[in-house]
Amino acid sequence: MPATAPLETIFPALDAIPAEFMLTPANQIDYLLNGELRQWTGPVQQVYSPVCCATAEGPVRQLIGSFPLMGETEALAALDSAVSAYNNGRGHWPTMPVWQRIEHLQKFAWLMKEKRDEVVKLLMWEIGKSLVDSRKEFDRTVDYILDTIDALKELDRVSSRFVIEQGIIGQIRRAPLGVTLSMGPYNYPLNETFTTLIPALIMGNTTVVKPPRHGVLLFHPLLKAFQEAFPPGVVNTLYGAGRVITPPLMSSGKVDSLAFIGTSKAADTLQKAHPKPHRLRVTLGLEAKNPAIILPDADLDLAVSECITGSLSFNGQRCTALKIIFVHESVSEKFLQLFSNAIAGLKCGMPWEPGVGITPLPESGKPEYLAELLADAAHHGAKVVNEGGGSMHATFFYPAVVYPVNERMRLYNEEQFGPVVPVLPFSDIETPIRYMVNSCYGQQVSLFGRDSESMAALIDQLVNQVCRVNINSQCQRGPDIFPFAGRKDSAVGTLSVSDALRAFSIRTLVAAKDQESNKELIGSIVRERHSHFLSTDFIL
Ligand code: G3H
Repeated sequence: MPATAPLETIFPALDAIPAEFMLTPANQIDYLLNGELRQWTGPVQQVYSPVCCATAEGPVRQLIGSFPLMGETEALAALDSAVSAYNNGRGHWPTMPVWQRIEHLQKFAWLMKEKRDEVVKLLMWEIGKSLVDSRKEFDRTVDYILDTIDALKELDRVSSRFVIEQGIIGQIRRAPLGVTLSMGPYNYPLNETFTTLIPALIMGNTTVVKPPRHGVLLFHPLLKAFQEAFPPGVVNTLYGAGRVITPPLMSSGKVDSLAFIGTSKAADTLQKAHPKPHRLRVTLGLEAKNPAIILPDADLDLAVSECITGSLSFNGQRCTALKIIFVHESVSEKFLQLFSNAIAGLKCGMPWEPGVGITPLPESGKPEYLAELLADAAHHGAKVVNEGGGSMHATFFYPAVVYPVNERMRLYNEEQFGPVVPVLPFSDIETPIRYMVNSCYGQQVSLFGRDSESMAALIDQLVNQVCRVNINSQCQRGPDIFPFAGRKDSAVGTLSVSDALRAFSIRTLVAAKDQESNKELIGSIVRERHSHFLSTDFIL
């Protein structure tokens, strides 16, 4: 039987929502500019939750608050604030000793932790993420900050020594790039924004943060923490429509580093707007269409369980989600049966319900878009094979397994980013390999099989197509100390706790000929602790 209750009754009446999860709508008018919490008096954007309430007129999306709809003037004010704080690399923040910047970040992590419940509740209501996953997102983000601090300490320890080579004495460290514009995605609005913001800050850059389209309100509880933890102008927040506020930022030429997680189309537009693109450092996380490949000897129970979480955690709204499954034809029938049964066991409901797996979708028009994909697949010869698959009710979409998918269907290439699972049978292993070679994307793959020889042959081919080959395991970003990267249209740059420190800094050195007078001078600078950069201080 599909779902845990008929879809028509999936949304609760307002008075049936447990009191601890009720949210009082709030008009959030504060924003952080140059160290001040300013109050916005201009137009606002109302925010409707993907969570609907049952009414006599049917399900109604709940109004959960509003945020400022800023324009070009405010965008440029936020940018100017970051530019002044950086002061061409001469500002207080970029010239501060590393240990002091670490203290600011520690303070922020400590203040942030106090806001866990507020942020988690907003994550649930704004993007429909389950309570368990919302808590995970928050905790993982705090851990990311602490791990970043440790990674920087380690990097700094390695850099606190001098290198003497070919008669030159040098000290090599990493220095900031300038102003970073940090923009995260709606599926991980907190975590993925912070995985670029935190390393950018700790390396001495100043920042403008623009939250994603969905997942804006949850930044509000953190504004005070930003204000208290960082000097004026180091963090500035900007709200509004990306198409209005980002072009003036980029065309000003004053953004030195762009950290963007979203579509390649939007990333290209942003980069092209910069008058000197060669000056712009970019760190991008873009689309992906990670395949799973199920070989004839795969442990099907394991493959099904990994493909369920891989394709349907947070309703398939992860860049790392499995978005197409290739199954060897000898096991396809069995796989589809087990997979459909596993979907029927997933609990559908509201984000706060214990054990919930499938929740409402935040993007307006998303269920309709997914239904279009199903209609297109049907037109080209595929069917929804699981019971109830593709049923919709307002913002809710019941997962659909589509089979057999072929190259004429939109689902073959398009990143569905939702609870639709396209499955293709194959007889020749060249079929999935060719798919990956010809794909625009190159993030990860999951291989399911037991024979070491055939698995090894595949691994050796596929490591040159993607950046992570997962064996009998779903695709995922974590653990965060692992490199997270992508080929082709999937990413630019590598993010891991330590790689991110490199992405937001540049190697810079101080060098001198190995002469007595230079040695004396350097010795005196170091001994007297005159410089923050040229220093052998060891951070413990
Ligand atoms: O949406 C992309 C995220 O980076 C995926 O992270 O694999 O930990 O869910 P995850």
